[in-house]
Amino acid sequence: MNKLVSSLLSLAFVAGLGGAVAAQEAKPGEAGAAHAEAETPHYPLKHPKLEEWSFAGPFGHYDKAQLQRGLKVYSEVCSACHSMRLVPFRTLEELGYSEAQVKAFAANYKVQDGPNDEGEMFERTAVASDYFPSPYPNAQAAAAANNGAAPPDMSLLAKARGVTRGFPQFVFDMFTQYQEGGPDYIHSLLTGYETAPAGVQVPPGGHYNPYFIAASSLAMPPPLSNDQVTYDDGTPQTLDQYSKDVSAFLMWAAEPHLEARKRTGFMVIVFLLIFTGLIYLTKKSVYASKEHDNAAH
Ligand code: HEC
Repeated sequence: MNKLVSSLLSLAFVAGLGGAVAAQEAKPGEAGAAHAEAETPHYPLKHPKLEEWSFAGPFGHYDKAQLQRGLKVYSEVCSACHSMRLVPFRTLEELGYSEAQVKAFAANYKVQDGPNDEGEMFERTAVASDYFPSPYPNAQAAAAANNGAAPPDMSLLAKARGVTRGFPQFVFDMFTQYQEGGPDYIHSLLTGYETAPAGVQVPPGGHYNPYFIAASSLAMPPPLSNDQVTYDDGTPQTLDQYSKDVSAFLMWAAEPHLEARKRTGFMVIVFLLIFTGLIYLTKKSVYASKEHDNAAH
């Protein structure tokens, strides 16, 4: 009897708890604006838009013409503020350039070298084995020139930024092999600047962008606009196209061996399938002659 009462009590307790949780969950919606103001907003305010990328999926590959356009956007616009300290000029040969073209490209940059015999550091013209340098002597100078925020190095940026997609999306991502969060984010950020809605305070030197991962505004002014970079292959010279191309280029910079990785992955799966078949046949032949309790043979 006692047992029955206590189990009834605990049932009632659980039901009560459920009700309380439901009430809790309903609260933010009910309380409306007043409640939302007190809460810390979740950044980014808007999730990145999903784009089509040639390098998506198990057979993804880079589109070299796109990477070449992306390099043009990076070197003519972004490199005024962003370095790529881990990417050597010589790797540009992978985009389809000749050795001579890469040498000529590197010669546009100046890098610091030294010390020389007098113990002084000196500047010289870059060669193919040098890396994309920073336009600033140090991080403090970079921050001082950009309203207190140093432009991050771009070598790994496309892999370093990924907006969490939340449940259940991340479960589906395992099957669709979604790995383009970085370029999707960069593309949305570059095309996502807008005027701040009424009531949103943008700090001095900040620029409102609902796609920015860490706040509602960032210290980078909109870097791209239509017709800013000249394309020689007839590709539309639009903000959207520039943003796509430079995002693809940054993905390549961050993961130059993506194609080889995907190819290897595919071969491994094929191998495992064949291997599974062989193991199964081996098992059958090994146990074929063994006595079995309910064996038919
Ligand atoms: C005038 C200098 C300047 C130029 C030109 C510039 N950026 Fe930036 N960028 C910045 C600064 C400063 C930040 C740091 C912003 C912050 O943290 O508030 C930044 C940050 C970023 C970020 C990181 C945002 C994050 O999530 O932290 C990305 C991506 C980016 N820039 C892409 C680009 C691309 C692509 C280009 C070229 C099309 C470019 N930038 C050109 C100054 C610049």
